[in-house]
Amino acid sequence: MTHGTPHRYPVEWIDRLTLPDGRLVTIRPVLPQDDTLEQAFVAQGMTAKSRYLRFLIGLQELPDALAQSLTRIDYHNHFALLAEWFDDGTEVQIGDARFVRVDPASGHAEFAIAVADAWQGLGIGRHLLRLIVKAAHAHGVQLLYGDLLHENRAMLTLATATGFTQRRHPEDARLARVERDLRVDAPVDDWDQAAQAVLVRAMQAHDAPAQPAVSSATPAATAVPARGE
Ligand SMILES: CC(C)(COP(=O)(O)OP(=O)(O)OC[C@H]1O[C@@H](n2cnc3c(N)ncnc32)[C@H](O)[C@@H]1OP(=O)(O)O)[C@@H](O)C(=O)NCCC(=O)NCCS
Repeated sequence: MTHGTPHRYPVEWIDRLTLPDGRLVTIRPVLPQDDTLEQAFVAQGMTAKSRYLRFLIGLQELPDALAQSLTRIDYHNHFALLAEWFDDGTEVQIGDARFVRVDPASGHAEFAIAVADAWQGLGIGRHLLRLIVKAAHAHGVQLLYGDLLHENRAMLTLATATGFTQRRHPEDARLARVERDLRVDAPVDDWDQAAQAVLVRAMQAHDAPAQPAVSSATPAATAVPARGE
């Protein structure tokens, strides 16, 4: 994992997601003090199978050094979001998504994502993946990829549904590589599409260009549309 000079804490990526059952999930960039949350998430929130799919090794718990490398990040070469829920005031991590640049000068970065087993199938993985694609794009990543076990149908389905293309892994026959070229396929989210629809309607109604809506609909400007709404 990358240990560059930390950039400021990127508050603009704080987000909220309302689940179909009304529960509210908070999503925020990780903090150095989140190492124990991450350890509880991996050891208690994830089953052995999910841990294997995420880490590609038989891991029962996160060793301290690994937990620290996942939480002491620079928010540029290594960027990570965690999803959490407050259970009667107790903070419980239920998801994690990150990208790590291959090397500091590289435009290529690898992503990884995990959702606690009890929280899967509720749309959290899709939301986290969209956010991490947008964050990678906003941080200048040109090619975002993930290495997945062939048996990981959930992640392969989610990735291809999110615009990733599946390829053969260059070295490991156990793995498939999913990748998305962010230079030619910049992320656009529902908010962007909604903003464009409003713009088109305004133009049709008034037969006049509406420049401000165009400029505010860039990926960086609309990084976290749910906040403050
Ligand atoms: C992959 C993972 C992150 C998906 O998270 P999630 O919150 O359950 O996913 P969502 O509820 O947002 O589902 C989004 C889409 O993913 C696909 N998907 C999710 N679970 C699936 C499953 N079991 N089988 C097939 N497709 C599945 C579907 O296309 C789904 O869309 P739909 O609900 O409209 O059908 C989660 O299963 C996980 O953490 N797995 C273990 C760790 C892992 O494999 N990480 C990836 C390696 S980096």
